[in-house]
Amino acid sequence: MGCAISGLAAKAEFGERNTDAAASAVCPSGDQIQMIKESWKVIRDDIAKVGIIMFVRLFETHPECKDVFFLFRDVEDLERLRTSRELRAHGLRVMSFIEKSVARLDQLDRLEALALELGKSHYHYNAPPKYYSYVGAEFISAVQPILKEKWTAELEEAWKTMFQYVTGLMGQGYQEESRRQHLLTLSPKDRPEKSNTAL
Ligand code: HEM
Repeated sequence: MGCAISGLAAKAEFGERNTDAAASAVCPSGDQIQMIKESWKVIRDDIAKVGIIMFVRLFETHPECKDVFFLFRDVEDLERLRTSRELRAHGLRVMSFIEKSVARLDQLDRLEALALELGKSHYHYNAPPKYYSYVGAEFISAVQPILKEKWTAELEEAWKTMFQYVTGLMGQGYQEESRRQHLLTLSPKDRPEKSNTAL
């Protein structure tokens, strides 16, 4: 059985109501968690490669994502990016986050906190939520050939569910940070009082 996002994620700052689609995102079931963990044991040997493939494909299929990256936005030749040290480092950061997420699938409160924080930092990187879902799709195409015959429709569904869950939370963190920053731009007299906004 899945679980709707709750706990930390539901406690939006400044008493804002949680109306995002993310609020109804579902986390992977027990069986899906097992499948994800098993497949991760194979994928993790190739994390640097997967990280690069994922982002080069992301830039090919959604070139607008490249503009978010200060270091890559002017690189026209995507082949050059395949050997870029920076892209490798970035891919590894993202893959390490996925590794942490897999490890925390049994402690959803901790995973929620982590993904919300990551969404907040992405607000400051100017990387909006509409781009996050593309990453899951590219991850799936990158790992499929590594898992070969171990890849199944059920495993694909399990990874999709996990990405939807994590990126839903990231999107929520992004929105919370965006609201927080907006309120900080208001003069103190225009800021809503916490107790009134929950109504
Ligand atoms: C599943 C989706 C994603 C995950 C898990 C993810 C994860 C991460 C992580 C772990 C970092 C390292 C810094 C930190 O911890 O705050 C990072 C940095 C960053 N991400 Fe993402 N990210 C995702 C999607 C995206 C997308 C779609 C974009 C842009 C279109 C993006 C742009 C950036 C930028 C600009 C940085 C800062 C520069 C850098 O660390 O190289 N991210 N991301």
